Amino acid sequence: MKKVGNHNSISRKLFFSIALMLSISFTSFAQEAIPAVDAAAPDAAAPSQGADPVKGKELFSANCAACHKLDAKATGPMLRGIAAKYDASWLHKWVRNSSELIKSGDAQAVKVYEENNKAVMSAFPQLTDGDIDNIIAYTSEPKAEAPAAATATEAVPGTASSDSGVSNNIILGALSLVMLILVVMLFLVNKVLSKVAKANGIEVAPKTPTTPIWKAFARNQFLVLVSAVFLLLASAYFVYGFLMQIGVDQDYAPIQPIHYSHRIHAGSNGISCKYCHSSARVSKHSGIPSLNVCMNCHKSIGEVSDTTATPEYSKAFYDAEIQKLYKAVGWDATNQKYTGKTEPVKWIRIHNLPSFVYFNHSQHVNVAGIECQTCHGPVQEYEIQKQFAPLTMGWCINCHRKTEVKMEGNEYYTKIHEQLSKKYGVDKLTAAQMGGLECGKCHY
Ligand code: HEC
Ligand code: HEC
Ligand code: HEC
Ligand code: HEC
Ligand code: HEC
Ligand code: HEC
Repeated sequence: MKKVGNHNSISRKLFFSIALMLSISFTSFAQEAIPAVDAAAPDAAAPSQGADPVKGKELFSANCAACHKLDAKATGPMLRGIAAKYDASWLHKWVRNSSELIKSGDAQAVKVYEENNKAVMSAFPQLTDGDIDNIIAYTSEPKAEAPAAATATEAVPGTASSDSGVSNNIILGALSLVMLILVVMLFLVNKVLSKVAKANGIEVAPKTPTTPIWKAFARNQFLVLVSAVFLLLASAYFVYGFLMQIGVDQDYAPIQPIHYSHRIHAGSNGISCKYCHSSARVSKHSGIPSLNVCMNCHKSIGEVSDTTATPEYSKAFYDAEIQKLYKAVGWDATNQKYTGKTEPVKWIRIHNLPSFVYFNHSQHVNVAGIECQTCHGPVQEYEIQKQFAPLTMGWCINCHRKTEVKMEGNEYYTKIHEQLSKKYGVDKLTAAQMGGLECGKCHY
């Protein structure tokens, strides 16, 4: 009996020591995280005295942002910490008229010019020394994102930056390692203990044979009844679900290879549906835009603004999605050119009528003048595109019964209208009366 008590206390000790280990590793991670945030702050040179970084930011956005970014190369080099590289008077001359400085043979200027493939920077004769100092003050500000992201992670888990993603992974890894060690140790301890027990001649009590669980279960009629009812209900539910899915994929919203958000493009940025789905107007199909269309904008948009991030999707997440686009079209953002290495993006088709149905977009969008949203829902609010309408025959027919055909300004219809409205004795015609219920119109 004494030995058994011993057994318990050993495993309890083991448990406590592991708990201790865990809490130590947690606190050490927590401590590591704090200096990491601080470290992101410094390294840029101190701003020149008296200059105003806020005004500088405005000037930068208005004049320089087309070619320069603070932390990445664009058409021109990255500009954060530029004050540490050149003195103020050189920068004044350079920004006001860089070509002149290059022509004058200034060694630094010629070097920059040549390093950047002799691209020409615009001249800014209108900027005063004060203006340029303000811009320099702005470019000398420490990178603000890291601490912001770190505080955001505490508040909203979804906005985790990539940094905290890494430390989360480390913690997870450490945890599973600890679990593994725990299991192995328990196993070893058990083995050693039973060896010790054997050596000391102690009988380890054999397990008392019990009735197997399934036998006990079968003997209990109430339990059997309840489970039978449960099984019946569950299978009825699945059979019903299976029957209802045929032809109806309402709300189908697959995960696409690139997280492309209609909310951000068609909503916040107000891009017209037809800019991308240009064939909706003229053909049977709306089509999905080719990636060249995306690159019209994304050559110069490599990341989203801070305000675009939501609790659910962080800025880092969106930026990574744009990188996927770059990878697919083979765009090298650092050198601003195509690498020639492309890989197709396989968008998953969401809407899909059976092949025996004829549906024509231009007929509905152009001729009938129906808004995209009538059939596709508030697409400009969708973070993830989905199928809004049921796309059943009943759905098509209902709308044809209800919807009046737009006759005004459509010469093709004036004559038909006269004839048909006489036939039906009404002023207005619905799509149904125009023949919109004839099987052959929708079925091949
Ligand atoms: C039309 C594009 C364009 C605009 C606009 C522009 N730059 Fe430039 N900038 C360049 C290019 C290209 C270079 C590289 C040097 C070269 O090829 O002339 C450069 C280089 C520089 C450099 C030297 C950087 C280094 O690391 O050596 C500074 C500083 C600079 N620009 C500041 C500015 C400021 C400030 C503004 C806004 C007032 C501005 N630039 C607007 C294109 C531009
Ligand atoms: C910047 C380009 C762009 C704009 C603007 C745009 N879309 Fe899209 N649309 C796409 C891309 C890319 C896809 C495929 C990826 C997806 O399904 O999210 C798509 C998918 C769709 C689909 C689903 C297609 C399928 O697979 O069945 C519909 C419906 C749709 N868009 C409607 C609209 C409507 C309505 C608007 C205007 C409110 C609009 N789109 C604006 C690019 C665009
Ligand atoms: C009358 C309803 C209706 C209207 C209005 C409508 N659509 Fe559609 N749309 C559909 C149906 C139905 C499908 C499925 C077509 C298929 O599977 O052949 C579809 C499919 C699509 C697709 C998938 C690709 C394709 O062509 O099959 C896109 C993209 C799309 N619509 C965009 C738009 C845009 C953009 C507008 C507005 C300019 C619009 N739709 C207006 C009913 C409509
Ligand atoms: C008319 C300009 C324009 C076109 C065309 C365009 N985009 Fe964008 N896109 C933007 C802007 C602007 C942002 C950044 C929005 C912000 O910062 O608020 C953006 C952001 C994004 C993002 C990050 C946010 C998100 O939606 O997940 C992705 C990914 C993206 N675009 C992919 C695409 C793809 C794929 C296409 C082509 C089908 C495309 N874009 C076409 C302007 C465009
Ligand atoms: C939002 C209402 C609406 C929905 C939903 C709708 N339609 Fe229509 N449809 C119309 C209208 C309005 C017209 C008449 C257009 C015209 O010719 O002026 C029309 C015309 C047509 C025509 C041409 C009829 C003719 O007389 O030439 C066909 C074919 C058609 N629709 C097929 C479909 C199919 C297939 C669906 C379902 C997948 C569908 N429509 C869903 C409103 C709708
Ligand atoms: C306005 C367009 C429209 C008209 C008119 C129309 N249908 Fe349909 N029909 C559809 C669509 C869309 C589907 C596909 C529904 C689905 O996938 O759930 C369909 C599906 C069907 C199916 C297959 C059902 C199934 O579950 O596979 C049959 C059969 C059918 N239609 C017969 C008819 C007959 C007969 C008529 C004439 C009385 C007719 N349709 C008129 C649009 C139409």
